[in-house]
Amino acid sequence: MSDLKILFDKNVQWSEEIVQQSPGFFETLSKQQAPEYLWIGCADSRVPANEIVGLLPGELFVHRNVANVVNHTDLNALTVMQFAVDVLAVKHIMVVGHYGCGGVNCALHNTRVGLADNWLRHVQDVHIKYRDRIDAIPEKNRVDVLCELNVLEQVANCARTTILRDAWERQQDLTVHAWVYGLKDGRLRDLGLSMSSSDDIGGQLAAAAALVLARWNS
Ligand code: CO
Repeated sequence: MSDLKILFDKNVQWSEEIVQQSPGFFETLSKQQAPEYLWIGCADSRVPANEIVGLLPGELFVHRNVANVVNHTDLNALTVMQFAVDVLAVKHIMVVGHYGCGGVNCALHNTRVGLADNWLRHVQDVHIKYRDRIDAIPEKNRVDVLCELNVLEQVANCARTTILRDAWERQQDLTVHAWVYGLKDGRLRDLGLSMSSSDDIGGQLAAAAALVLARWNS
């Protein structure tokens, strides 16, 4: 316990600082949450969702897993999305990958790490889909290319869920975005794929992927 005391101390300090800046903050927040955004990101400890975009508790709904995968039958991710869309009515979902992602790196190089191999199989599927074009890119850049392509594919996976299709069917204002975060500079980049309807999901995905691959090839 003694080695964890520092975390409790830091927690007291953090909560006191927030109350100092904004008296009644936690009391107000405890009564409701009304975030406008759902962040789907990697579980990597270097990619802390709220801090990166400077948002306070209550402002960002978050789901994180290894390599920011949105799998069609992942009840956990689907439940988070359904709650965010149907109950909280978030306006934006951002799938956020990050350069140098360990999960993507394992998938790219077929590195065995254990049970996680089965999860990362989804990222390997992305690699297989674009393999020829990724192989044409210098080796040192391939992980980051796959990080970007993986985000695009997961955005399409979001768009293809019944949750988003139903929301768009009832004209709900909701857009899914593809972002990537740089561990080396702390900056977010928009990958140029934003979906706000079910129209031509495959076409939008293909166009965005072509742009990503062309950029890394130039
Ligand atoms: Co990662």
